[in-house]
Amino acid sequence: MEKLLEVDRLTKVYSLGSMISRTRITATDHVSFYIKPAEIFALAGESGCGKSTTARMILGFEEPTSGAIIHGSKREVGARKVWFTEGVQAIFQDPFSTFNPLTTVDWYFWETVQNYKLAGSKQAAIALIDQKLRGVGLSYEEFSGKYPNEFSGGQLQRISIARALLTDPTLLIADEPVSMVDASLRMAIVNLFKELREQYGVSVLYITHDLATAYYVSDRIAIMFRGNIVEMGAVEQVLMNPRHPYTRLLRESIPEADPKKRWDKPIILAELEHEEYLRHGCKFAGRCPHVTEICKTVPPPDISIDDVLVKCHLYSDHSVQF
Ligand SMILES: Nc1ncnc2c1ncn2[C@@H]1O[C@H](COP(=O)(O)OP(=O)(O)OP(=O)(O)O)[C@@H](O)[C@H]1O
Ligand SMILES: [Mg+2]
Repeated sequence: MEKLLEVDRLTKVYSLGSMISRTRITATDHVSFYIKPAEIFALAGESGCGKSTTARMILGFEEPTSGAIIHGSKREVGARKVWFTEGVQAIFQDPFSTFNPLTTVDWYFWETVQNYKLAGSKQAAIALIDQKLRGVGLSYEEFSGKYPNEFSGGQLQRISIARALLTDPTLLIADEPVSMVDASLRMAIVNLFKELREQYGVSVLYITHDLATAYYVSDRIAIMFRGNIVEMGAVEQVLMNPRHPYTRLLRESIPEADPKKRWDKPIILAELEHEEYLRHGCKFAGRCPHVTEICKTVPPPDISIDDVLVKCHLYSDHSVQF
């Protein structure tokens, strides 16, 4: 099987606090996954679970404490800017902070065209820019000479996607790309990832805490909790037949159409975040409705069931470990 990108036991430890009271947070703990060519892979989980840390390491913004990033045949141990030139582009959460309010949006496109020597003439550059803008439902005419505040958040996010496409990347890393966009426009933007995959064969690492859009757009999904991938597999399997108690809890927290259904769910109190990070056993033990003694002391193994990875002691007895 061809892999476009693989991360192998990627770990990032942050030290917080003063010299006297140091806390270490393992923001990502031996995170391993791969992305296939032309695949949309979602990384989902609640705030602080380590999604952006993973993205920043892949993008080379942050040095991993340990582990490796494998891109094609290259194995990178440290952070390298090389990912950018090798066809990885990032799309960030807030399109308004991606663009300087005092600079017309064209400037960013011209800068990218120049930096990567993408066109031999002004005409060729305009044609290229127009082609990429049309790919996201805009055009050069509508966009040229305008400032960021002349666009809506949704349009601006489309513009930043078009810019990311200028270099013909093989992978887009989109970290919460729609969380600051109007709810009514989210699906259209997420849908764009599917269209771009069809059109250009680009893969997408779609980072989100929204399971509804993740379900709609992605082929496979990894659910993260406190630095660990707790469940990973085909999106249909993971979200329609969740096995990890945390995935089940996340699924239940998606607002239901029927308000009555929302209220009869048990209320589970969250522990302090760092307390969960420091747990020796399963990080979810403090909130898990199925917790047993072993969960509190022994980290759960990765178990494979029907091609889904589940990190949970519940499944230890009746499946093959790897
Ligand atoms: N530069 C840093 N220094 C210290 N701790 C950090 C740093 N960046 C992230 N962390 C911590 O690492 C953990 C993971 O953070 P991260 O930003 O990766 O989470 P996330 O899943 O992207 O969350 P969100 O959904 O809120 O964006 C958090 O506990 C966070 O406080
Ligand atoms: Mg984040």
